[in-house]
Amino acid sequence: MFKHLFTIAQKGNLMAESPGPDTVQELETKAVKGLESAGTEEELEEWRISYLGRRGELTRLLRGLGSLEVEERRVVGAAANRLKSTLEERLSEREQALKQSKVAGSGAEAIDVTLPGRPIPQGGLHPTTRVIREICDVFTSMGFDIVEGPEVEWDHYNFEMANIPKDHPARDMWNTLWVDYTDENGEQPMLLRTHTTPMQARIMESRKPPIRVVVPGKCYRYEATDATHEWHFYQIEGLAVDRGITFANLKGTLYELARAIFGQDRKVRFRCDYFPFVEPGVDMSIDCFNCEGKGCRICSETGWIEIMGAGMVHPKMLERVGYDPHIYTGFAFGMGPERIAMLKYGIEDIRLFYSNDIRFLKQF
Ligand code: PHE
Repeated sequence: MFKHLFTIAQKGNLMAESPGPDTVQELETKAVKGLESAGTEEELEEWRISYLGRRGELTRLLRGLGSLEVEERRVVGAAANRLKSTLEERLSEREQALKQSKVAGSGAEAIDVTLPGRPIPQGGLHPTTRVIREICDVFTSMGFDIVEGPEVEWDHYNFEMANIPKDHPARDMWNTLWVDYTDENGEQPMLLRTHTTPMQARIMESRKPPIRVVVPGKCYRYEATDATHEWHFYQIEGLAVDRGITFANLKGTLYELARAIFGQDRKVRFRCDYFPFVEPGVDMSIDCFNCEGKGCRICSETGWIEIMGAGMVHPKMLERVGYDPHIYTGFAFGMGPERIAMLKYGIEDIRLFYSNDIRFLKQF
């Protein structure tokens, strides 16, 4: 119906005189583009004058409607009026945005509020921290307190109180880093604790039964490092002392832990082991969560994975802190959270934990 009008518009002549729907469309495209590139109040005003002003393009187009036939005028007029209100709306939006960006700054300091935000680099918890927290949570849910102790320790607590006197061959189990310092009598050597076990005596000296604590903390050993040995690492010690504590309590508690950390169907196995501060002493294994006990690389084809040492607190330990071993008994255990993290996440080299390689740490 408006065929002749299209051609006129396309040729670009007589626009004001004989506007068509295409003219309206073209004008809209042009006006919107112009509005987007207007960045200052002055430019906005110029734009307003050139489209909506008394001699503006849209105003002229509206005036030209009179030259159209009734039918055409109805259609084109509606489109042009719609465009007018659209442009007015857009203009006030732009004015509003300009005002706001003025608040945010001006000139060289202006903040372009339309730019996408810069991502904020986000840190995460170290895998060792994660596992320590997870393990401690299991114990706090069973009523254990969390206690920490000194990393630089006296020989007295690290060894003597733990039933490992001087010249005892068991000292070889803990290759020690000594600190060049002794007490005032020159008798008490200092060392970097080789395990968290010294906290057992410290806690028993400072509290009365019932005692239920776990002690996470850093330990040090004079050792060559390889994929499964580090010279510094964490341990989590556990201690429960009260009347009537039995080996069944030890088993039940550690069973609960194994299932919470490694899955509800875990089996556990206890075998005799020797630690001077427990009697009897055991090591605890879980059935391999990878092969379900069939034998694989993770469990060295044995079907079992050893995760900690444990046992009943040695009566001599109780005597040394002034507890009557006929009245009180207790159990203790010690585990390496890095080792547990290695098993849980399939980490093959313990040295990764402290080499600060962000590519490793980022994965947790
Ligand atoms: N302290 C022992 C170690 O470092 C672990 C352990 C703690 C064993 C408590 C038994 C009881 O290997």
